[in-house]
Amino acid sequence: MSSLLLIHGPNLNLLGTREPEIYGSDSLEDINARMRLIAESSGHELFSFQSNHEGALVDRIQQAAGEGICHILINPAAYTHTSVALRDALLAVGIPFTEIHLSNPHSREEFRHHSFLSDIAQGVVVGFGPQSYDVALTGIINALAHH
Ligand code: DQA
Repeated sequence: MSSLLLIHGPNLNLLGTREPEIYGSDSLEDINARMRLIAESSGHELFSFQSNHEGALVDRIQQAAGEGICHILINPAAYTHTSVALRDALLAVGIPFTEIHLSNPHSREEFRHHSFLSDIAQGVVVGFGPQSYDVALTGIINALAHH
């Protein structure tokens, strides 16, 4: 059994009501519950965490190092495009991670085209709406099975 951590950045607590034409109608709790179910059906456990605060996200990543988390799934939201601190935290703990976005940031405004995380991620899944999370988690579970 592996322990996985799903982290959501700022404004993702509003999922379901926030720009549904871009982000879909699933709430964050819908997504968390579904991810937990997928993980548990493969014999893994999944914790989730959301914060609107950059430092709280850094703290949660640091905490993961002492919890035996073997993979982090993270939608850093707007901090994707701004946060050296999140990059440094992920490098510091050295836990492999997958970057997830509901939308495809590359088809949107120029300032969303750069990510401070993509080049150090194990994988990146973007553009499938709430299903981006399912695709990422399925890929991680398959990769864990082949270890
Ligand atoms: C997002 C894309 C980001 O550019 C944006 O700031 C978000 C959500 C996504 O999941 O599509 O908040 O990470």
